[in-house]
Parts: sequence; C-alpha cells; structure tokens
Amino acid sequence: MRLPELCLVALVGISGSGKSTFARRHFTPTQVLSSDAFRAMVADDENDQSASSDAFEALHFVAGKRLRAGRLTVVDATNVQAHARQAIVQVAREHDVLPVAIVLDVPEEECWARTQARPDRDFGRPVLARQARDLRRSLKQLAKEGFRQVHVLRGTAAIDAFELGYEK
Ligand code: CTP
Ligand code: MG
Repeated sequence: MRLPELCLVALVGISGSGKSTFARRHFTPTQVLSSDAFRAMVADDENDQSASSDAFEALHFVAGKRLRAGRLTVVDATNVQAHARQAIVQVAREHDVLPVAIVLDVPEEECWARTQARPDRDFGRPVLARQARDLRRSLKQLAKEGFRQVHVLRGTAAIDAFELGYEK
C-alpha cells in the first residue's frame, strides 16, 4: 500500500481491532490523533463518552492545523459511523488534502477476547456488536463517502503483514 505523502488517514475498526497498535507501528506518535487522548484532554477520562463531542471538535481542529502545515495526520478512532467519517472527509477537503481510509476488519469474537483482557475498557458485548454492525454497513459506503483510497485489511494476519509505503 502506498499513501500520498500528505493525506488524512482515518483508521476504521471496532474496539479491539488493533487501531492504536497499528498506528504506533506505522506512524510517529505526533502524527496520530486519538479520540482517547482528546477525551482525556477535555474530560480527564479517555472513556468518558459524554465528552466525545468536545473531544472530536478539538481533534478535528488540531487535524486541520496539521494539514494546513502539510503534515500527514492519522485519526485513531473507531470511525464506524458515517457521521464520524464525514467530519474527517470535510476537514481533509477544507485543506485540500486527500482523505484515506484504512479498515482493520477483525472478527468480533477476537476483538471481544482482547477487550476483556484490557483493564482500560469496560463496555459490554452489545456495544461491540453495534460497532460490528456499523462496520459491516460502512464497508459498502466508504468509497462513496469521498475517501480517495480505501484499504481493507481483513484479519490479523493481513494486518500483521501490512507494510506502509509512500507515493513518490
Ligand atoms: N492486540 C493483540 N494483537 C494484535 C493487535 C492488538 O493482542 N494483533 C491487543 C492489544 O495489545 C490491546 C488490544 O488487543 O491490548 C486492543 O488493541 P488496540 O490496538 O488497543 O485496539 P483499538 O482498535 O485501538 O481499540 P479501541 O478502539 O478500544 O481503542
Ligand atoms: Mg485504540
């Protein structure tokens, strides 16, 4: 996979699919804007869902600043809902930068097993099931939403084998 040197990457995947792990592996820490970090910034709690609206507003603001300075930026959030992705496409367009989607499509069972082993996550199975349903729906829509590249990595093996390059 080759990404444009300047783009806004939306990671897309249910909780536990490995988005933050993927982001750490392929991008520098400052390229990655995570919804968790922004929730923590505005509400002292990365799991405070009531802070999501403010957190995303702040995240999109910072993403815009980075894009205006010509810096590749990655949004590490589930992005399984169309409205979340619309906001990302809009920020990219406002700054004349290509929006790219990288989907981590990992079986719900596997994500649930990982989630249960995490001290920093305590939501129930129905939350994950809803995300998985939203993701299924999303897979059909992504290309139509304005993403210039859509990369779907299916399963942990494909995700582990993934190598990132940049367009010349
Ligand atoms: N993990 C794993 N094997 C992988 C990738 C991740 O066991 N190939 C583990 C991580 O160590 C972590 C958990 O699965 O404990 C979730 O991975 P993470 O990257 O944090 O998933 P996210 O998609 O970022 O989850 P969230 O949306 O909840 O932030
Ligand atoms: Mg994460």
